Amino acid sequence: MSDTSMLPGHPHIARHGTTLQVEGVALDALVREHGTPLFVYSKQWMLDALAAYQRGFAGRDALICYAMKANSSLGVLRVFAEAGCGFDIVSGGELARVLAAGAEPAKVIFSGVGKTRTEMRQALAAGIGCFNVESEAELDVLNEVALEQNRRAPVSVRINPNVDPKTHPYISTGLKGNKFGVAHDRALAVYRHAASLAGLQVVGIDCHIGSQITESSPYLDALDRILDLVQAIEAAGVPLHHIDFGGGLGIDYDGDTPPAADALWKQLFERLDARGFGDRRILIEPGRSLVGNAGLCVTEVLYTKPGEEKNFCIVDAAMNDLPRPAMYQAFHRIVPVAERPSLPATRYDVVGPVCESGDWLGRDRDLAVEAGDLLAVLSAGAYCMSMASNYNTRARAAEVLVSGATSTLIRRRETVDDQLRTEQAL
Ligand code: LLP
Repeated sequence: MSDTSMLPGHPHIARHGTTLQVEGVALDALVREHGTPLFVYSKQWMLDALAAYQRGFAGRDALICYAMKANSSLGVLRVFAEAGCGFDIVSGGELARVLAAGAEPAKVIFSGVGKTRTEMRQALAAGIGCFNVESEAELDVLNEVALEQNRRAPVSVRINPNVDPKTHPYISTGLKGNKFGVAHDRALAVYRHAASLAGLQVVGIDCHIGSQITESSPYLDALDRILDLVQAIEAAGVPLHHIDFGGGLGIDYDGDTPPAADALWKQLFERLDARGFGDRRILIEPGRSLVGNAGLCVTEVLYTKPGEEKNFCIVDAAMNDLPRPAMYQAFHRIVPVAERPSLPATRYDVVGPVCESGDWLGRDRDLAVEAGDLLAVLSAGAYCMSMASNYNTRARAAEVLVSGATSTLIRRRETVDDQLRTEQAL
């Protein structure tokens, strides 16, 4: 009989004997080599997630632009660049990063409400594929910057379709009250204006309605509203080469059941075909769904601390490493790396060393652990390392990419010297 068992919902994480493994690599061995907290990613999970989108797009004219804000580590970017992906960027920093990772500039699209002139110049000079413009004022500035350089900037206008993605309010972006995009009923006027500017070349239309979306219906509603606009804008004489449908597909954190990417796109293409847009070039900007469940963070239990109302399990990872619980009350599963069948489980709040009550990673978790044990915080591939900070002068964690039986350190642990290098005491 095999002593291997896969973690439910995590096909590349399994218990082998006394330790958890990511693909063919044991976590306890990685920790002996690299210490904790340690992010570990499965390359195969990323490629499988990408393959689901690729199946959905088979036979279609489509480009998958990985939204690199989800995880912008060079080693992760390289995986998607080698797989032929484009990238969705939101800053000059991300542009520099993705070019360093070997991305093709023509496959890069630039989103975000606050692009600076400097960032626009950099992106134009690099020859990116499209600027996703979010306001009329930004159109005018981009036009000026492009004319200065004797170029025409390829643009899409991000439309706010005013649909409810039914997700956490901090990560819904397509509602009227959000700062993102141009209102649906202003769209035609904004496109007419864009088409009149000599420094711009209108190439597409864009929308993104939110993140961690676990139902198909908000996407179908948004698609209908965008296609209505495509018809109206093209009838006004402005051709749209592509439709960028954003990202936002959710992952399973806690028994969530988002549609599979291929199943979602089957539905969306049925709608596109029915409305005569099945041949149109489609761009998407998925982030979380390409990396979220590829990653986990291994942390060591420093102390267990019984309390009057609560017991605390104090670990060496904190809100600076894993900010999602503190920011969005997000749930991440936490499992021991080695199980202790003889120890009774205790109900703990799993907390970090940062001096804030908001520094918790999981609440009311039943765990059989002692100081020195390792815990794995799951679903930590997206919006963890990319949102990590140095709060409390904590060094950011190391990251390892696993492929089969091979592990590669893709980011060494930060040192205090790294942090002090940019500062000066007068
Ligand atoms: N495109 C645009 C314009 C976006 O604003 C985003 C995410 C994406 C694509 C990628 O969305 P995804 O496929 O990853 O859902 N920090 C939050 C999530 C913020 C998402 C921001 N925008 C979290 O940890 O839940």
